[in-house]
Parts: sequence; C-alpha cells; structure tokens
Amino acid sequence: MYPFIFRTVFSRMDPERAHHLVIPVIRALGIWPLAPIVRAVTRPDPSLRTEALGLVFDSPFGVAAGFDKNAVMSEGLYALGFGHVEVGTVTTVAQPGNPKPRLYRLIADRALINRMGFNNAGAAVAADRLRRSRRRRQRAVLGANIGKSRIVDVEYATADYVTSTKLIAPVADYLVVNVSSPNTPGLRGLQAVESLRPLLEAVRDAASATPLLVKIAPDLPDDEVEAIARLAVDVGLAGIVATNTTISREGLWTDTGAVAAVGAGGLSGAPLKVRALEVLRLVRAAVPTGFCVISAGGVETAADVRERLDAGADLVQGYTGFIYRGPLWARQINSELARINAGKAALMRTNSG
Ligand code: FNR
Repeated sequence: MYPFIFRTVFSRMDPERAHHLVIPVIRALGIWPLAPIVRAVTRPDPSLRTEALGLVFDSPFGVAAGFDKNAVMSEGLYALGFGHVEVGTVTTVAQPGNPKPRLYRLIADRALINRMGFNNAGAAVAADRLRRSRRRRQRAVLGANIGKSRIVDVEYATADYVTSTKLIAPVADYLVVNVSSPNTPGLRGLQAVESLRPLLEAVRDAASATPLLVKIAPDLPDDEVEAIARLAVDVGLAGIVATNTTISREGLWTDTGAVAAVGAGGLSGAPLKVRALEVLRLVRAAVPTGFCVISAGGVETAADVRERLDAGADLVQGYTGFIYRGPLWARQINSELARINAGKAALMRTNSG
C-alpha cells in the first residue's frame, strides 16, 4: 500500500512539503485515543528491550536526528514503534535554515540529499516541549541533538553549544553534540581533535549527569575516526553516533547530471550503508565495552539493524528509510528483528543441546 501512495502522491510532491504534511498526522497518532490503539499494534516484542546509556529502550531502533527537529512528534513516533527519538538538531538561536529548495529525493538510489541548515525554533522551545513529553508514563527515550547557531562565528562555537546544553540537557535523556553536518559552514572543521577536545569538555561540564555523545561524519579518514573515538573515551563521553550524511556522490545510480543539478548537501540512505558499517566497526574497535555506539546510515531492513548490532552497535537509527518505507517501517523492523532473534536463540539451543 505505502509504495503505491509514495509513487502516486509523495514522489510527485516537493519533499519538504510532503514532510510538513506528514507532521500533523504523526502528531495525531501520539494523542489519545489514537496513541494507545496504534501502540497496541506496533508495540515491540519484549525481547527487543535494550539497555544502553543507563536507559531502557523498548527497541534498539530509533529515529535519527533531523526528522523531528522541533520535538513535536516524539509521541507519534513512539506510537509507531520507535524505541527512541533524537530530536533536533536544535541551536541556541532559532533560525530559518538555508533557502528552499533544500531537500531532494534520489529515488533510484533510495537516498536523499539535504542542505536544510539546521532550520529550527531554538533550544528553549525544544526544551519546553521535551519537558512536557517526558512527563508521559509511556514514551520513547528522548535524545536531543545540538548544533552551532548560524549567526555565531565558529570561533565562539563552544559558548554557543554550552548555552544550548544548559537549556536542553536537563530535559533530555541523552545529548548529542553534532559537529558533522555538512550544511553549516565551518561546522565539520570542529571535528579536528584539537578543537574538539575543548568543545566536548565544556559541553560535558555543562551537561552534568545527562549522558553525552558526539556525532561524526562518514567522510573522516579512518585514522581520524579512531582518534575521535579515543578522544571521546578520554573526555568521559557516554558514546558516539556514527554517522551523519556524506558529501560523497560516489556509486550512485541516479544520472550524474541530475545529481550535479541538486548541488551541495548531505547524502543519506542506501548509498551510505557500506561506509556507515565500516565507521561503526572502526569506532567499536577503538572504545571499551560499555561505551555506547549508535549506528546510523543506510539502514533499511531488520537484517541491516541486526548486522549493526552484531558489529557492536548498542542502538541503531534511521531516517531516509522512513521516507521510502512508510509509517509501518519501525513496526516491520521490530517484528522481523524479534523473529531473527528468536531464530538465533533456537539455533544456539540446538547447538548447545
Ligand atoms: C538529517 N540528518 C541530520 N543529522 C543531524 O545530526 N542533525 C540534523 O539536523 C539532521 N538533519 C537531517 C535532515 C534530513 C532531511 C536528513 C535526510 C538527514 C542526518 C541523519 O540524522 C542521519 O545521520 C543520516 O541521514 C543517515 O541515516 P539514514 O538517513 O541513511 O538512515
């Protein structure tokens, strides 16, 4: 059903307009009386319960940052079966983002290119909403992803991140420092270890007891991925989110001219899968057990999620797959994952018996 709706309705619509049409629908799914009805159908199997970051997740699979930028959909996304929602990226100063159009589909690649530029209503507004969402007895784990405000010079980035942290860390279950979006000038330069250390130390101190993670780009060379992983451990972070979108355009099926016409932006979805898995393996090998690794990039199926978990991810996130697979995506992944897990357990019992 969804592939038909996607082909006949959504794919003919401007992608950002389609996203804005979907927001009130997902919000409605999170409100009584719909929420408990939807949740009854999508509730993840108890075998998927996952502990990470000192928190309990109903499923290891969650929504990556960028989908719910202003923290308005977490109840609906929970009703649809996601175990966590990483809201944001939010910035201290509310901002409109880049000029439109700024979101494109590469349908042949099951991919998106975006240069949204952290359009968001600001950290204070998101903090208010998170505070309200956290009062719910049954809810998703709520992460908050913070970035640098566009009007703030990179030189003053630390102070800007610290301001957002003070607003949002007290109402988030975990906090992510985003230094890997390709759509804010100079942001990815903050991934250089020399600039990253003081930034992470300052945010860590401001975040107090809220688990802190850093989100990295897939375009970093392997040795820099490893260096950031070691730095994150050294600074006392709780984890790493790997990865953000890529600026690479290699290996795409979409016509080169059409891709070039889209212009700058971060590529997400299926083409990111191989590198995201590589980066996950590099990070896992560089950090101790107990240090949380969240894998994102090109996840489409339960088998993809299982592969990430087997490669050492504690949690897995997706965004682009939701656009191509539709509202039942998390439910499908959860039920298939539970079946895969049950099959594995049965096999182990047979082998040991
Ligand atoms: C993103 N992503 C993202 N990441 C982030 O840290 N902050 C953000 O604001 C955004 N915004 C954003 C917008 C859009 C339209 C997309 C498609 C993606 C990146 C996202 O969280 C994720 O890391 C990548 O998209 C890779 O996962 P998928 O999409 O391949 O599952």
